[in-house]
Amino acid sequence: MPDQKIFIFDTTLRDGEQVPGCKLNTKEKIELALQLEALGVDIIEAGFPISSPGDFHSVEEISRIIKNASVCGLSRAVQKDIETAAQALKHARRPRIHTGIGTSDSHIKSKFNSTREEILTRAVQAVKWAKNFVDDVEFYAEDAGRTQNDYLARVIEAVIAAGATVVNIPDTTGYCLPDQYGEKIAYLVNNVPNIDKAVISCHCHNDLGLATANSIAGIRNGARQIECTINGLGERAGNTSLEEVVMVIKQHKDLGFYTGINTKALNPMSQLVSDTMRMPVQPNKAIVGANAFSHSSGIHQDGFLKDASTYEIINPEEVGAEGSKIVLTARSGRSALAFRLHKIGYSFTRNDIDTLYERFLQVADTKKEVMENDLHELAKTYQ
Ligand code: KIV
Ligand code: ZN
Repeated sequence: MPDQKIFIFDTTLRDGEQVPGCKLNTKEKIELALQLEALGVDIIEAGFPISSPGDFHSVEEISRIIKNASVCGLSRAVQKDIETAAQALKHARRPRIHTGIGTSDSHIKSKFNSTREEILTRAVQAVKWAKNFVDDVEFYAEDAGRTQNDYLARVIEAVIAAGATVVNIPDTTGYCLPDQYGEKIAYLVNNVPNIDKAVISCHCHNDLGLATANSIAGIRNGARQIECTINGLGERAGNTSLEEVVMVIKQHKDLGFYTGINTKALNPMSQLVSDTMRMPVQPNKAIVGANAFSHSSGIHQDGFLKDASTYEIINPEEVGAEGSKIVLTARSGRSALAFRLHKIGYSFTRNDIDTLYERFLQVADTKKEVMENDLHELAKTYQ
């Protein structure tokens, strides 16, 4: 039985909301926060309080209303940011301040025109400052994916000594390969002497489509928290998709991990986020896409109708999806045609189906999909 809990840190309301066109008002943020809590996420990153008065207000209201999950506010390694985050989180039952700074040479030189030593000092000061307001302080080393491991280890050791309870290792640009990201986490586990005093967190972006794979590589090498968003929303190509990592963990029990997520709520949650953020979900999206449980080619349909597990590794009910679909196209086979005709009340013999199938193909070749009314027409031609 899996015995290692992976904490799910949802950042739909912060990193997810940074997507152009996805901005949320306070009412929408509160509704989503309540549903995220019901979904079972451990930490809700509610926003970036210093960024605007509206976001401050949202974090404040979410802090009042959320009972079980930790509520987190983002800040830069800047005193005013940290104080503002602390103020917005004042009413939270479990407040967390998420503060940090860029640690890659590119960030140190181009963004800060600074040095490694100065950045290390600022990181430590930020964590110490945040500790004046809350016990739970998460430190992010922005662009850790492109930060040299030996320097990253020094920063992480120092911020843990300063009181960080969680250390976030973001692959901010989605650059790492899964092996590289996993090795980075393993390096920290093996080279930071006080690492067992903090939880290591994965925060992966999806610029190369590797965010889910990288997060899983992270937990396999010692990380215990995954930062993710519903539908994988986030800056540029997005963040790690919550539904994907949760289902990887659930389907691969051999990894020894579990999460507190109620997986039956995944599809309704995806729909709610998509509607509220006005951001459609791509049909082929794993777990929550419209085609995630659709079968349209003859070979697959035949196998699926004999035994669903031949072509489905997840029962759609388990993730709150509508159910499996047998879609009829010119690539479909006889068993799918018979199945769909039977579903709408027609019982034909095998020979009848052979004849009907030829007519079906003529119709199917003229359409993207053969619909129920087409099937009624087809059946009529045979009566
Ligand atoms: O991608 C990133 O590095 C971030 C940090 C602010 C945590 O979102
Ligand atoms: Zn991010």
